[in-house]
Amino acid sequence: MASFRLITLSLVLIEVVVHRYTLSADALSMDYYAMACPFAEIIVRNAVNRALRNDPTFSAGLLRMHFHDCFIQGCDGSVLIDSTKDNVAEKDSPANLSLRGYEIIDQAKQQIEAQCPGVVSCADILAMAARDAVLWAGGPIYDIPKGRKDGRRSRIEDTINLPPPFFNSSNLIRMFGQRGFTAQEMVVLSGAHTLGAARCGSFKNRLSKFDATHDVDPSLDPGFARMLTRTCSAGDTAEAPFDWTRNSFDTAYFNALQMGGGVLISDQTLFTSPQTRGLVVAYAMNEARFFFDFSQAMVKMGFLDVKEGDAGEVRRDCRRVN
Ligand code: HEM
Repeated sequence: MASFRLITLSLVLIEVVVHRYTLSADALSMDYYAMACPFAEIIVRNAVNRALRNDPTFSAGLLRMHFHDCFIQGCDGSVLIDSTKDNVAEKDSPANLSLRGYEIIDQAKQQIEAQCPGVVSCADILAMAARDAVLWAGGPIYDIPKGRKDGRRSRIEDTINLPPPFFNSSNLIRMFGQRGFTAQEMVVLSGAHTLGAARCGSFKNRLSKFDATHDVDPSLDPGFARMLTRTCSAGDTAEAPFDWTRNSFDTAYFNALQMGGGVLISDQTLFTSPQTRGLVVAYAMNEARFFFDFSQAMVKMGFLDVKEGDAGEVRRDCRRVN
């Protein structure tokens, strides 16, 4: 009886794995450009490495841009489109104004177009660039499926679906859940905040000096709150790094959360909430697990509402629909 159960369980597991694989194989594949544009990956990697050698803070910019692309209209390069006189695009939404790295995508695209015009989508270039940025910063190495098409819609109003910095753990679990992610995947993806910084406009409501309606957010370490307050005295665009190694992909972010050093409410809540605290502790202690789960969650994020065939196009210029 026990062995029968074991066999049934194994068959179910095999089916889950095969089903996941077929789903992905139908839509995208690892070697999508192997024949039509064999140097695409290398061109992107070189463009990213060149830019990051000059300014390592762009690793954060590229990673965040891919996330903001995927969460709005799927991973279809919609975040890269410029506004026109008839349309205010996603990138001009307040939630996207601090996105950085558009020029790196443009450079890679121009070089790829020179070799194989009309083949490689901007959405794929952005996905590859984010992956390469993570590796450059010392994070995990992982392959991503390719074959996304570029979308034709980019509207400011759609960015309402990006998570705001004041969300608590339950809000975040719900919002990510709506896109098919588990709480664990939400926490590990938030680990992207191991790179980069936030501007005061995103967190000053936690500090009593800038919001007289309440005391300092009690989940903040008092010393850290004083430091954030000093940073914000320089104005709304002054930046506070998410952790003490802003250009290194490591576990410092999760360690900071354990010390009351989360910059955003949406960061600190991951540790204060019993629903997610265990995951923060686990990732803080175990870099290998963080890297493995992060890679898997990024690949999954890269599948969000991917456009195939006529549902999209391969843009000639990432900033304009064809
Ligand atoms: C969990 C919900 C999330 C919220 C509420 C959130 C919110 C924010 C906010 C408010 C900033 C700072 C923006 C500024 O002040 O200029 C930021 C920065 C950043 N976010 Fe998130 N984020 C979330 C998840 C993610 C995910 C899933 C990723 C990537 C997979 C990501 C990657 C980044 C990066 C790398 C930065 C730093 C950007 C830079 O320094 O240029 N975030 N995020």
